[in-house]
Amino acid sequence: MKSIYLFLIACFLSASTIYAQKFENLALTPPMGWNSWNTFECEGVNETVIREMADAMVEKGMKDVGYEYIVIDDCWQIGRDENGYIIVDKEKFPSGIKVLADYVHSKGLKFGIYSDAGTMTCARRPGSKGFEYKDAETYAKWGVDYLKYDWCFTEGQDAKSSYKLMRDALYKAGRPIVFSMCEWGENKPWEWAENVGHLWRTTLDIDMNGRYDGNVNGNLFGWSDLVDMQVGLEKYAGPGHWNDPDMLAVGNNDMPINEARAHFSMWAMLAAPLMAGNDLRNMSFSDQEILTNEELIAINQDALGKQGFKIVDLGNFEVWQKPLSNGDMAICLFNREIKNTKYQVNWNQMNIKDFSGAYTIKNLWQNKVIGTTDTNFLIEVPARDVVVFRLTK
Ligand code: GLA
Repeated sequence: MKSIYLFLIACFLSASTIYAQKFENLALTPPMGWNSWNTFECEGVNETVIREMADAMVEKGMKDVGYEYIVIDDCWQIGRDENGYIIVDKEKFPSGIKVLADYVHSKGLKFGIYSDAGTMTCARRPGSKGFEYKDAETYAKWGVDYLKYDWCFTEGQDAKSSYKLMRDALYKAGRPIVFSMCEWGENKPWEWAENVGHLWRTTLDIDMNGRYDGNVNGNLFGWSDLVDMQVGLEKYAGPGHWNDPDMLAVGNNDMPINEARAHFSMWAMLAAPLMAGNDLRNMSFSDQEILTNEELIAINQDALGKQGFKIVDLGNFEVWQKPLSNGDMAICLFNREIKNTKYQVNWNQMNIKDFSGAYTIKNLWQNKVIGTTDTNFLIEVPARDVVVFRLTK
């Protein structure tokens, strides 16, 4: 009798732990793609927009430099059927999600979708609470590759168990899906989510209009403020588990070119996911050039997977370092002033970690080798702009 009990307990334990894992070997470098929210929010999103964005991602050369995911954010879902399966909003997505996912795949891209751990999404569409396994099964059937999972309407829910539940549901559904946790950093996911998600938001939302600093009603932040909130989190990021300071606002509401360059560079330095949020169909040439800068993307996508950190802080002027493969490093001079600032580059006095002298210096935005670290120099960094160097042995 006792042995039957032990056998049953063993069966129960193995059944409950068998799915208790995320898909490994996904997002080994920060995910790159496009998400509908920053431009289209709830009202504007529909299947035409998603198809055209997939087309544009290919036509504008973004796919060639590594952008991969096309993610529909909130407002694709409208209700549940009598069996609890999610119902697609037929006004916005008349052909259904599977057809759209197939279209995105036919372009050589990957397809992402959005849901929420609570009863409703932030835009008050049905959430996944209580339907996690059914939703995961549906996503797998549709060919979803990426799930952004939000945290609205979760009163009384425990973040760890809510996100683990969806992780397990995705695993059971059997299709490798990147799990993007959007819990805004409220429960410090960097401390516990390495085995839960592939990336986790560390903050509330970026201001989709691209403001530089400050916030709107305490929840839409200027991108430079989001940079400050990443300080100290570098030790938690690595291949397959990234800190996410939210999507890019490059190209939104005519963000000035210097700010767009600085924003993109800092996201590259932070090993942040590079999820564009602008209208790719009609972006300006300069925004396109910024988003497709291969030197900067290489910094972001470096296989070592180290998040950059601040090594000099002079108030409104900072220096950041990101270690790279083969002993290379990226150094970013970030001028937060609204005026140009001169900075004396003295290689031995910049607190560069593991600096061992005699590197070749390439100025990445100029795409030019400018000398070696044996020489110090004075440099002018324009207002709210950056200079990014790659140091190579
Ligand atoms: C939250 C998220 C955003 C976006 C919206 C959608 O605010 O943080 O990124 O997904 O919900 O409603």
